[in-house]
Amino acid sequence: MVFLNVVKSGTLALNEQMKLLEAQGETVYKFGFGESPFLPPQRVQTALQEASHRKDYTPVIGLPQLREKIAEFHSEVDGYPIDAGQIMVAPGTKPLLYNLMHAFEHATVFLPAPSWVSYAPQAQIARHPVFKIPTSYDDRWRVTPDVLDRVLSEHHVVGTANLMVLNYPGNPDGLTYTRDELVALAEVFRKHEVWVVSDEIYGLLHHEGQHVSLASIYSERTMVTTGLSKWCGAGGWRLGALILPPDAPAELHSALIGLGSEVYSCAPAPIQVAALTAYELDAVVHEFLAGQRVILKAIGQKIYRQLVSAGVKVHPPQGGFYLLLDFSPFADKLNAIGIETDTQLCEQLLEQIGVALLPGTAFGMPADMFTARLAYVDFDGTDALQHMTSFDTDAEAFLENYTGKMLTGIQRLDEWLS
Ligand SMILES: Cc1ncc(COP(=O)(O)O)c(C=O)c1O
Repeated sequence: MVFLNVVKSGTLALNEQMKLLEAQGETVYKFGFGESPFLPPQRVQTALQEASHRKDYTPVIGLPQLREKIAEFHSEVDGYPIDAGQIMVAPGTKPLLYNLMHAFEHATVFLPAPSWVSYAPQAQIARHPVFKIPTSYDDRWRVTPDVLDRVLSEHHVVGTANLMVLNYPGNPDGLTYTRDELVALAEVFRKHEVWVVSDEIYGLLHHEGQHVSLASIYSERTMVTTGLSKWCGAGGWRLGALILPPDAPAELHSALIGLGSEVYSCAPAPIQVAALTAYELDAVVHEFLAGQRVILKAIGQKIYRQLVSAGVKVHPPQGGFYLLLDFSPFADKLNAIGIETDTQLCEQLLEQIGVALLPGTAFGMPADMFTARLAYVDFDGTDALQHMTSFDTDAEAFLENYTGKMLTGIQRLDEWLS
């Protein structure tokens, strides 16, 4: 083969297909693409408008003031000390994750199954061997210390670094780890000297505001990725941040700076300037975060309950905006109508009732397990945030008014299944 065998990311491909159907006048219940339903706070949008003259290239790792700001912000919200020297800024976390994979010359990559769509292709592009860490519905799709220890012992390739990606609150499952669970995993990480990329991009959207960063427990080899895409509703702005361990080797810094300089030069300067305002941790940001959490928790729990009563296996979400649906109780019925895989199931749901879900295979799940990810983001979050007072009066009416389309979509799914 002359060319690299890599295809368009499943999530982006689905987004384009949904937009095409909508352009043809179809109603599509957009549960497929995980884009925040909220706009960045007004003052952050204004800061971006006012920064349009910033046409300069910044340092590869970002503006020094922004790195200071992010360090202060995350020290405060995550409750452990972070120095600006540990921070690198880039156009999104995706290129940071990509560069992290490439910064390791020889690595064995371990990925939980399920986990986010891009980790495995990125590891493959970096030509690292990839091993899955199996999880199960009964273990709430969590990596357990025993399984982790076994997979690391069995699959470590001599002469390579162990590199693992952990993501919580999780995409595709909306579930997180407790401090005790992280402490238990950290013991195994220490034993096997694992470098962990802790993708905490949904950390600030923990529905109870109780996210625990792995870096506060396993500081020596944890590399945290975060950014504006999810909690600030600014995915298309492209602003990601990496928090390196305090004593990260100079060679790691240097490899990441080298890769960034050869691939993207820097995050866009106007976005970095606007990010200075986004990372201003005051009452505005606290209120913005609190409002998002209340709405996401309420709608996540409501959809979860509706799905359970429809017979779908699913856990109540704890953070972010995803649910991992397990349709295995319907396997016989699905097989009987010629549906053998999760992709076929998602194709039929989109075609027949306009419900867009993303198949579990995109997240490393076996096709015949009939899993699919649902993102509960098909609503106008900014409109909903502006009417938060009515949530306190009548939460049910609030959900009907501001997230009604999604509730109809779930109803249609329920009818289709029965
Ligand atoms: C788990 C996870 N990590 C990383 C990303 C990429 O984020 P960014 O927009 O910062 O590149 C996403 C986006 O959907 C995600 O869900």
